[in-house]
Amino acid sequence: MKTAKPLIAGNWKMNGLRADAVALAEAVAADAAASADVCEVAVFPPFTALDAVAGALSGSPVALGGQDCHEAEAGAHTSCISAEMLADLGCRYVILGHSERRHGRRETSETVHDKARAAFRAGLTPIVCVGETRAQRIRGMTTEAIADQVFGSVPDAEGPMMFAYEPVWAIGTGKTATVEDIARIHDWLARLLHALGRDCEGSPILYGGSVKPDNAAAILAVEEVGGLLVGGASLDAEAFGAVIRAAG
Ligand code: 13P
Repeated sequence: MKTAKPLIAGNWKMNGLRADAVALAEAVAADAAASADVCEVAVFPPFTALDAVAGALSGSPVALGGQDCHEAEAGAHTSCISAEMLADLGCRYVILGHSERRHGRRETSETVHDKARAAFRAGLTPIVCVGETRAQRIRGMTTEAIADQVFGSVPDAEGPMMFAYEPVWAIGTGKTATVEDIARIHDWLARLLHALGRDCEGSPILYGGSVKPDNAAAILAVEEVGGLLVGGASLDAEAFGAVIRAAG
């Protein structure tokens, strides 16, 4: 079932010095304010720009999120950022288990599970990413791969939670899954989450993977799509503004 308003989320990945990030955030804030009746908007800047972007977004409807967090609250974890630190900066969300961490940094579902618990502890909403690789898709293992990630990553603990279906082969490639594929996987994933006690209404499923202004409206029209997780197009104020407007 569709949530009242879709979430349009911009994952900036490792892009943007503070001045660029602030300029982009200001543009996003203006577009989000104009579309506040039809969608929620969130941005996920790199850690180094979170504080500056939080300032730029003050008073705007745009929510802030981190791109990852550590599972511990504090301690001897050189280079890591805790969920509490993100909350302290004004974050509402944290992306967990992105394929660039699962596959790029060999992060396991067990670690994603522990990070999701940490997010709950800090009062953040985790957005857990799942998705099959190209090889898994070719072998017909798409649902097995996603089910493994879901079973391994989703904690029993209560807390608001979101998911993002991001087929790995569609990320940054310009190859978007077809609307039919997205509908099939989202419908199946929604039923799997329901069986785990995580109803889609409380745990909406975003789609991510080469979302652009020209495909956003069609993807958002899919019944079980609760929003979009946008990478490359979220770095361009004009393109991201067009994706936001597609929600209307
Ligand atoms: P692209 O939109 O660049 O394909 O990236 C998607 C993504 O990884 C969002 O988290």
